[in-house]
Amino acid sequence: MEALLRAEHLKKQFHRNADGKHAVNDVSFEIMPGECLGLIGESGSGKSTIAKILTGIESAAEGNLYFEGNPILGKHVRKDSRKNMQMIFQNPKSSLNPKMTIGQNLDDALRYYEKIPKTERKVQCEQILERVHLPKEYLLRYPDQLSDGECQRICIARALLRHPALLICDEATSALDVSVQKEIVELLQEVQREEQMALLFISHDLALVSHVCSRIIVLSHGEIIEHFQS
Ligand SMILES: Nc1ncnc2c1ncn2[C@@H]1O[C@H](COP(=O)(O)OP(=O)(O)O)[C@@H](O)[C@H]1O
Ligand SMILES: [Mg+2]
Repeated sequence: MEALLRAEHLKKQFHRNADGKHAVNDVSFEIMPGECLGLIGESGSGKSTIAKILTGIESAAEGNLYFEGNPILGKHVRKDSRKNMQMIFQNPKSSLNPKMTIGQNLDDALRYYEKIPKTERKVQCEQILERVHLPKEYLLRYPDQLSDGECQRICIARALLRHPALLICDEATSALDVSVQKEIVELLQEVQREEQMALLFISHDLALVSHVCSRIIVLSHGEIIEHFQS
């Protein structure tokens, strides 16, 4: 089977790093279709920088990166080469537009990318809310009127609307209360299984990552120091 994502010798240095250290140094790994890969490491080890390089938020990096067989690093990358990749961030509220309703936030994920009629988009938004176990009345609310856990469900819903082949979760539960954290992890596992999408689950919490992922890579000072099956 061909890897869904293949990273080869990724390297990234921020100019402000006066000590000349690399935030990411010679990092190579693969994610297979439908796999849950864990990425752990202490704070500052380069986890988020890797996630940002994968999603194209951070540009300059050495190395090669392939997604669905296509190169996604460098100048000549096709604009839609990452369309099947979605990311969930640590702070759900700041990932949503506070001035727009939940319905509008969700609709935004659809309207710019596919030519779906408005009525059909509304049906899809209602269905996706059900998928993340929220009532469809929430479409009319604003992010401020939801709890953090509910907002993270919305962020997951928004990602799912695009049917990603890879979902990257960067500390997606770290800002939540422990009980809510458990619910969100269960939801992620549930949708990962049902959608058969791959998950890159990033966290500093080894127990949590071991619970979710069968294969784990450990990062320290920008380098992979260990690779194991849990
Ligand atoms: N935008 C930036 N500018 C300068 N240095 C950065 C930037 N983002 C991250 N870094 C540095 O890169 C290293 C890795 O950070 P990060 O990837 O956020 O780690 P983690 O997510 O594992 O906590 C840290 O030393 C951090 O200070
Ligand atoms: Mg981080």
